[in-house]
Amino acid sequence: MTPEDSQYECCQHIYLETFGCQMNELDSELVQSQLSALGYAFSDDRDAADVVLFNTCSVRQQAENKVLSRVGELGIEKSQGRSLVVGLLGCLCEREGLGLLRRHPQIDFLCGPGELDKLPILLRNASQGESQLAADRAALQGNRSRRSTVLGRAEDGLETLDRERSFEADSQAIRNRSAYVRITRGCNKFCTYCVVPATRGAEVHRPPEAIISECRSLADAGVIEVTLIGQTVNHYTYTHGVALSAEGKELPQVGPGGRAFENGVNHAGSVTSFAELLRRVHDEVPAIERLRFVTSYPRDFGDDILEAMRDCERICRYLHVPAQSGSNAVLARMNRGYSVEEYEDFVARARAMMPDISIAGDIIVGFCGETEEDFRATSDLLRRVRFKNNFIFRYSPRPGTAAMSRLADDVPEETKKQRINNLLAVQSEISGEVHAALKGQTVSVFVQRVSPQSSKMVDGGIDLLRHSRGVQVSGRTEGDLICVFDVPQDIAAEQVIGSIVEVEIMDTGPLLLRGVLRSW
Ligand code: 5AD
Ligand code: SF4
Repeated sequence: MTPEDSQYECCQHIYLETFGCQMNELDSELVQSQLSALGYAFSDDRDAADVVLFNTCSVRQQAENKVLSRVGELGIEKSQGRSLVVGLLGCLCEREGLGLLRRHPQIDFLCGPGELDKLPILLRNASQGESQLAADRAALQGNRSRRSTVLGRAEDGLETLDRERSFEADSQAIRNRSAYVRITRGCNKFCTYCVVPATRGAEVHRPPEAIISECRSLADAGVIEVTLIGQTVNHYTYTHGVALSAEGKELPQVGPGGRAFENGVNHAGSVTSFAELLRRVHDEVPAIERLRFVTSYPRDFGDDILEAMRDCERICRYLHVPAQSGSNAVLARMNRGYSVEEYEDFVARARAMMPDISIAGDIIVGFCGETEEDFRATSDLLRRVRFKNNFIFRYSPRPGTAAMSRLADDVPEETKKQRINNLLAVQSEISGEVHAALKGQTVSVFVQRVSPQSSKMVDGGIDLLRHSRGVQVSGRTEGDLICVFDVPQDIAAEQVIGSIVEVEIMDTGPLLLRGVLRSW
């Protein structure tokens, strides 16, 4: 914090609500670190807050509707005289731009996901109530990051946000002993349905040293699970000796897909690949008991990454690798750059190397031009690959994407609904069978929380510490399966939450495993 910042220290209470993906969850955590350091307090009570921040998602219309309905509620409260600062962060700001301020005058400022280092100044200006031009109430990247082949100050500022993450005991990651660590921002893939390349900009990779040092600090603070995150993690590649600060420190760099190194940029330096990064984090930060990564792209996923997963015992044998569709015609219209056959070859390669690997995916139903036959091909793919889970979405046209401008959204909403229900039923059956195969086995579970069913019992202001004996807790297996078990009467839930324990699986269903605690 600079002396200039400290004069703005305040005691305003902020309510921050997060929508969307893991990137947003991490951004919110970093925002909280940044603003707490400036003296702001965070509160879970929206009604009592002086500032309401929504970290928004734009990936589907439904996500936008949710946040805009919250914005509508706050508009009514402000018109009734409530004094409140309302700020929108995240992808919706980039997708909609300044029009949001015109249409929703109750919003005081906008801050895109690539501009979060500007949040303190936006918040400070809004809190001081000075009337400003709309342009001064918004920090947006626009398509700047795509116009430039070198990183500008915005990305340097963002790296600072990652580097200044709090490792204090009250930060969420430390409390949960589980943290996201960003390795890549943005995306260079341009799948035709997806708004992310427009809202989060070009792919930018963080230097390995910054990533490893962040992992080490998290581990020193008690974190035992780290998930490395990026839109397409397996595209991580860092060329050393290219992007250096004046002091010789390595800086984030635009991914090769962004044509960053054309025209005379030095390629001579050595490269850290994603597989090498995984091995380095694994070997150099052994206190991380579970190392994961999301999301993988089914193309460009080399055997070197699979070998790292096979060889390093603390790298979880888990992949989230979206297929999106089981029809080659649909995949081509989506611009995914692989065929169903190539996708299945990849899955077979992963399973040949690690027969016990657990895999999840994403599927979009009702994409432009999807016929009954295309849909059946997707259903058949799910039955062939038999993943532990698939997140299934109805296609939602997004303004600014190639699909929205070039392809007709011609699958009727009713058909999309039927198809999603149909696929959910198929996947539920498969998930049930994948879970059932674990019956009788003893698995390691990272215990995360009192399970929602038990939290109801201890709700209502009753002290969890005194009443948590015998409650049900829930956690995740190495393969990311949800597992619940009852804490024996003689121990308190707090003694197992945050640690990895051994659970014998007694019973299973399509959503979860149920077991008995065997050792802890
Ligand atoms: N409509 C529906 N689902 C989408 N996704 C991304 N864009 C859209 C869209 N326009 C899904 C993809 C992606 C996941 C994060 O969200 O399946 O993998
Ligand atoms: Fe979107 Fe495709 Fe990039 Fe994923 S890989 S963020 S779906 S453009």
